[in-house]
Amino acid sequence: MLGALMASTSQYPSANAAARLDDCVFAIRKRTSIEPRIGVVLGSGLGAFADSLEGLVKIPYRDLPHMPASAVPGHAGNLCFGHVQGVPTVCMQGRVHLYEGHPVDKVVQGVRTMARMGVRAVILTNAAGGLEPSWSPGDLMVVIDHLNLTGTNPLAGPNDDSLGTRFPDMTAAYDPALREMLRDTAREARIELREGVYAGLLGPTYETPAEVRMVRMLGAQAVGMSTVPEVIALRHMSVRVGALSCITNLAAGIAARPLDHAEVEATARTRHEDLITLLRGWITRAGSLSS
Ligand code: HPA
Repeated sequence: MLGALMASTSQYPSANAAARLDDCVFAIRKRTSIEPRIGVVLGSGLGAFADSLEGLVKIPYRDLPHMPASAVPGHAGNLCFGHVQGVPTVCMQGRVHLYEGHPVDKVVQGVRTMARMGVRAVILTNAAGGLEPSWSPGDLMVVIDHLNLTGTNPLAGPNDDSLGTRFPDMTAAYDPALREMLRDTAREARIELREGVYAGLLGPTYETPAEVRMVRMLGAQAVGMSTVPEVIALRHMSVRVGALSCITNLAAGIAARPLDHAEVEATARTRHEDLITLLRGWITRAGSLSS
């Protein structure tokens, strides 16, 4: 492990974020010539989608310089390349989270690499707790905005101007055209879709009932421990973003019983087929975006 770490740092000296991305892209280019147009981040229990890519090329994160690997059950660690209905696509099969102790720039290394490869849009999926008492575990929600309550930001520190501006606009962080494409896909497939604001917290504790009341008061409909840093890093690099939450449970205090990660994963699995249908349709539509 230490050897691999030392090998990767000495083999790929990198002074800044852009250089770290170029190291990663260089290593990827040795394994595949696919030029992905769409990127996908697969959340808890959703990783199997990547295995359905046509002409799949799977690169373990451990083979990529600067890419951290997740230790969370349900999160494999592979960058997967292939096609979805002819759309060249790259999927992160598993992501790392801030609560694992990774520095925030490591957490966003994967999505920044996708951006560096020239993807036009990134679709993120996640498991989230629902804040609306009328919702049910298994509901699917298109994210329309977020609250960054993680206590950090991947852009804090010196700005790498070659990646993006110092003060990125976040007015329409979750791209309206992409949101519409997901709604069209859901309508066509007769899959019901909620919509709402995602509150991103650090974790790894699930929220207390008081924290759940707080995020509800702040205007969120869902709460989770991922996505927000990635979205910020992608908007910094002017990549369009869409996000879909699987409401795996009602949040603490709304649900009658204690929360449990195995149950979160199991609920995500019950919506697996619909999630795959939505992702396939969404990627196919998003593949037509011009920039
Ligand atoms: N809270 C935070 N993250 C989550 C939850 C939750 O209730 N469910 C799935 N991820």
